[in-house]
Amino acid sequence: MRKKYIAANWKMHTTLGEANVLASNIIKKSKPNTNQHIIFFPPFPYIQSIADLVSGNESYSVGAQDCASEPKGAFTGEVAAFMIRSVGGKWVIIGHSERRSHFNESNETLKKKVELTLDENLSVMFCCGETIEQREKSIQNQIVETQLEASIFHLNPAAFKNIVIAYEPVWAIGTGKTASPEQAQEMHHYIRQLIAIKYNDRLADEISILYGGSVTSTNASSLFSQPDIDGALVGSASLMTDEFISIIHVGL
Ligand code: PGA
Repeated sequence: MRKKYIAANWKMHTTLGEANVLASNIIKKSKPNTNQHIIFFPPFPYIQSIADLVSGNESYSVGAQDCASEPKGAFTGEVAAFMIRSVGGKWVIIGHSERRSHFNESNETLKKKVELTLDENLSVMFCCGETIEQREKSIQNQIVETQLEASIFHLNPAAFKNIVIAYEPVWAIGTGKTASPEQAQEMHHYIRQLIAIKYNDRLADEISILYGGSVTSTNASSLFSQPDIDGALVGSASLMTDEFISIIHVGL
């Protein structure tokens, strides 16, 4: 049975104190089932602190929202994958649409980040998704295929197992507009087919594919009931303790 994930992307929100309270309350009050895993993605400076909170609890882990595309060196302001590992991070989000659009991250740059992250034995949450203009032209499948092909499909099968894919249509992120369960399922199924063609059926069946984009406790259950949706990458709703706990408790 595929592992199910509920991930909290806190983006550029919270103070250290707020992040600690949020994570502590979620850990205290939520009861993930044995096949569910919860990941907190706080801002960089709080990773160590949240890693201490989740330490020893197998249902939770912590990760970074990004990492540098260079291994180390004179890159003022950047945070390398090995640094994330050294403060207890287990995951890195790579290819979030906000990184692609606001910071002009190309598929080639993302490929480098993926490799550096995996080299540190961290797992990758790889985001892909089309814009509204691309969906209106019905080229969403092509766009997602290109994103996967250019940044992760070069990996060998052993490395690919450390990837979780998050399909996040850009038009659904932070907009309150969610993809319908059918639209999401269609894309998740398409992604799984691509993995089967590129690798094999077994690997395609093992890889978890999350949906992201305005997930709330109200729409979570219809999304999670789709056969190829293995959880969610949650932005705004993950900053609200009860709302996020409700998404976990919808169950998967
Ligand atoms: P949202 O963000 O839930 O606020 O739409 C999702 C994301 O950006 O990962």
